[in-house]
Amino acid sequence: MTQQQIVNVALGGRAYDIHIGPGLLRRSGEIIAPLLPRPRTLVVTDENVAALHLDALRASLDEAGIAHQAIVLPPGEATKSFGHYRKLVEDLLASGLERSDLVIAFGGGVIGDLTGFAAATARRGMGFTQIPTTLLAQVDSSVGGKTGINSAHGKNLIGAFHQPACVIADTSVLDTLPGRQLLAGYAEVVKYGLLGDADFFAWLEDNAKDVIRGGQSARAHAIRRSCEAKADIVARDELEGGPRALLNLGHTFGHALEAAVGYGDALLHGEAVAIGTVQAFRFSALQGLCPEEDVRRVEAHFRAIGLPVDVRAIHNRLPNAPELTAIMRQDKKAKGGKLVFVLARGIGRAFIANDVNAEAVTDFLRGELERA
Ligand code: GLY
Repeated sequence: MTQQQIVNVALGGRAYDIHIGPGLLRRSGEIIAPLLPRPRTLVVTDENVAALHLDALRASLDEAGIAHQAIVLPPGEATKSFGHYRKLVEDLLASGLERSDLVIAFGGGVIGDLTGFAAATARRGMGFTQIPTTLLAQVDSSVGGKTGINSAHGKNLIGAFHQPACVIADTSVLDTLPGRQLLAGYAEVVKYGLLGDADFFAWLEDNAKDVIRGGQSARAHAIRRSCEAKADIVARDELEGGPRALLNLGHTFGHALEAAVGYGDALLHGEAVAIGTVQAFRFSALQGLCPEEDVRRVEAHFRAIGLPVDVRAIHNRLPNAPELTAIMRQDKKAKGGKLVFVLARGIGRAFIANDVNAEAVTDFLRGELERA
């Protein structure tokens, strides 16, 4: 059996461990117990995760002598709303938990972001723990303390940085994840190779099928490497004043596509990131920054595992190129009205471009829409 691995997020007084490995759910009570000021907690999850895994978490909490209640919310992006946030905070306040008690966020990115934000604000900041159940949440959203909900003005526009007390990533829980969701999360794994670790990308080129089909040791390695990369960046730039923005590789293009298509099944976040990442490489090559050969490798890798590399499938739902550029201006990463992109000088060599010419982006997007 693969050993449990631990990655530390070195944030001084707010440092915490990410526990990674198969079968960790049934050990989660034991892992969390030393972090609790008293043996009681509240689990927030969604209906899908509850049906598959809540019994296992409850059994583990029981075994560790931790009293618990559970709140089960509807699955899906619509749950990251003001309405659910208000209800969850009221429920947290009514639960009898105190400021120093820990709440458990048990689910994918929606549950992690919403629960983290409720914990960040209830009683001016309660503790919380992440038990992510999707690949995307295990390698990205559960680590680093970004929490929040959506606004009518856009995704994740209301939120707070609030670090969890620990993260428990049980790699075997991913066996019950729908294949499309797993692939979408895999796009974020690839991101870490492309932004700063060419050797990891080369390893993924050789091992992606194993990571996706469930070879436990390949999967745990990919998740550990991703968490190490993220932990390193977060430790250097917790509040995204600098290098943390590198984690947005593929996200400026991708978010515009998501916003244009509408958040939901037509285009999952990770699928938008896959297309957006290829676009970031293609755009970088057009600007003379990145070798064409690297663009071909990125595209070939996403194609080989079945992720989209262009806007063909969503073409009919997209506005024209100037409108897509206008959506990018709304991005919360835009600075002084300027478009901020993560571009690449090659595989593993991403950088933050703070003043990208909007005309050049619009011309590029015109080409992207035409080729679809
Ligand atoms: N998902 C990007 C970040 O956590 O900064």
